[in-house]
Amino acid sequence: MISKANKCTGLLALAAVLATCAVTTGSAQTPKVFTIKANEIKAEVAPTMWGLFFEDINQGADGGLYAELVKNRSFEFDVAGMGWKEIKDKDAEGSALYQNRGNANPANRRYVQLKSESGRYGLANEGFKGMGIKQGMQYDFSVLARQHEGRSGSLLVELVDEKGTVIGSTSVKPASTDWAKYTASFVASATVPKASLNVVLTEKGGMDLDMISLFPKDTWKGRKGGLRADMVQLLADMKPGFFRFPGGCIVEGRTLDERFQWKKTIGKPEDRELIINRWNVEFKHRLAPDYFQSFGLGFFEYFQLCEDIGASPLPILNAGMACQFNTAEVVPLDELQPYIQDALDLIEFANGPASSPWGKKRAEMGHPEPFNMTMIGVGNENWGPQYIERLKVFTKAINDKYPGIKIVNSSGTDPSGDRFDYLDKELRAMNVDIIDEHYYRAPQWFLDNAGRYDSYDRQGPKVFAGEYAAQSVRIASPDNKNNWHCAMSEAAFMTGLERNADVVVMASYAPLFAHAEGWQWTPDLIWVDNLRSYGTANYQVQKLFSLNKGTHVVPVLLDNKAVSGQEGYYASATIDRKTNELILKVVNSTGKRQSGAFLIDGANKVQGKGSLTVISSADLEAVNSFEAPDTISPKVSPISIKNKRINLDLSPYSVNMVKVKI
Ligand code: AHR
Repeated sequence: MISKANKCTGLLALAAVLATCAVTTGSAQTPKVFTIKANEIKAEVAPTMWGLFFEDINQGADGGLYAELVKNRSFEFDVAGMGWKEIKDKDAEGSALYQNRGNANPANRRYVQLKSESGRYGLANEGFKGMGIKQGMQYDFSVLARQHEGRSGSLLVELVDEKGTVIGSTSVKPASTDWAKYTASFVASATVPKASLNVVLTEKGGMDLDMISLFPKDTWKGRKGGLRADMVQLLADMKPGFFRFPGGCIVEGRTLDERFQWKKTIGKPEDRELIINRWNVEFKHRLAPDYFQSFGLGFFEYFQLCEDIGASPLPILNAGMACQFNTAEVVPLDELQPYIQDALDLIEFANGPASSPWGKKRAEMGHPEPFNMTMIGVGNENWGPQYIERLKVFTKAINDKYPGIKIVNSSGTDPSGDRFDYLDKELRAMNVDIIDEHYYRAPQWFLDNAGRYDSYDRQGPKVFAGEYAAQSVRIASPDNKNNWHCAMSEAAFMTGLERNADVVVMASYAPLFAHAEGWQWTPDLIWVDNLRSYGTANYQVQKLFSLNKGTHVVPVLLDNKAVSGQEGYYASATIDRKTNELILKVVNSTGKRQSGAFLIDGANKVQGKGSLTVISSADLEAVNSFEAPDTISPKVSPISIKNKRINLDLSPYSVNMVKVKI
């Protein structure tokens, strides 16, 4: 006797076979038949699922996201005059002396004393690989200045193009022998990718100058001293679930002295103590002697950015360990307290009432409301027992005072191997909240590992895929490309992350930004120069997943198994309870056209019309560029769906997404 259940299965199978026959026309290959179980909720997709990893690498902050155009504005680089050069007319006489106030102003020791005895004398700033200037745009100049030895006189401020032609100018006149801020604005008369800024005395005079600064008016949200709007817009367009900052290895620093200390990055910009950027000397093949951290983009601005783009803030703090690839210094355990205090104070800075000591500082910076931080990372790519020892002290202190805050923990530098195995075991034994896994691997690794999380413990810690990017050559090779091969492989892998959303609660590509002339590490998600920016093929994939994450995972099966590379197919499906949509993502990782019939099981109704979004390229080497930023970009078209069946004709090397109301 045939049971009711078996009868149903038999009927479904027959329907599938009949349906299969119906779509073979026009396609050389018999389509594979997949089943989507639309009413079998496997997991909730965390609102944080797809997010961003930011680090000041590749000129990501100074000379990048932070819109300041003047490099070494307060003469604090190791070489005080780096980025500046003398301007002296024939017959002119003058001097520029770098003065050091020492402990009278430890965060900002140096300033320049500019004097002209006769004629035109001054300094020119080269900017960060030049200054990108736009015709018709207002530029806001500011400087801290005082008259020197009672001499009066004006400071002429000029923007000049590469030939020395003036494309905008203004002047300021210090009014006293006390330090004060002077500001002036002007409009640029030309678009120039590599302008420079002159500050000049045109006649006998003298003044002390510090924090010589120039910003465009069109910063993100028009904030004075703010961020580059085009770069933030690319982030906002992704609707990221979280924003991790400030790194990355710069959290650790080459030495403990050079670690990232958030308290030194808030308050007035002139009081933020500049330090060397760890990427200044990291790669011999990409030395960056002028790479420092001014911290004009500091922790307040990071939190504000998170709020602007709707991302949960995820700050990562130093765990009492310098980068283990560099000095590997650790702070003795009995001297760890200041590091822990930094973590506790940060939570108060972000969330505490404006009446609390650190909440007050936030309020004074213009944000009395809390930033609603819910997570904190302890350590970046730290490893070994020395990390676990320190982490335990942090964990206890944070849990005791702020039990609601989730802690993100390092699993080291690699997704496998001794370091990983040791940390994974220890962290699971500690029953930590979230484990941060990193993988910079070949595209094939991403294809092979789409099932990585299928077998993870469902009851254990959650996973944060905190840094990943397919490397077309090898990790950190300067020849790595953001090509379609890498991006498509990441998409295949991401279907596995999505399928396992009960374990993986956050994921972010890394690094985020690179300046075309100022980079150290490639590949990167977004490339910029002084005037332009574009999203790579990888960006298009990240954005597709982020904008279409849905709220709940449902199974999509081939022969009753997850679709994780069989014959080059990868797939995941979610439903969105807010929009009542089914969202199906399918990757064809092969170089041949393939077809698939996706039967929607368990949905009462499925609309006849949906949308199909495809990102593809027959050329695995294809990349986006400044000149052709949309070479690899999504193409959207309508799709008809009959009898709860989605027929897909999958282009070679393609990422496909169908959305349909159910
Ligand atoms: O993303 C570049 C670097 O890669 C990060 O700073 C570090 O965490 C990783 O090794």
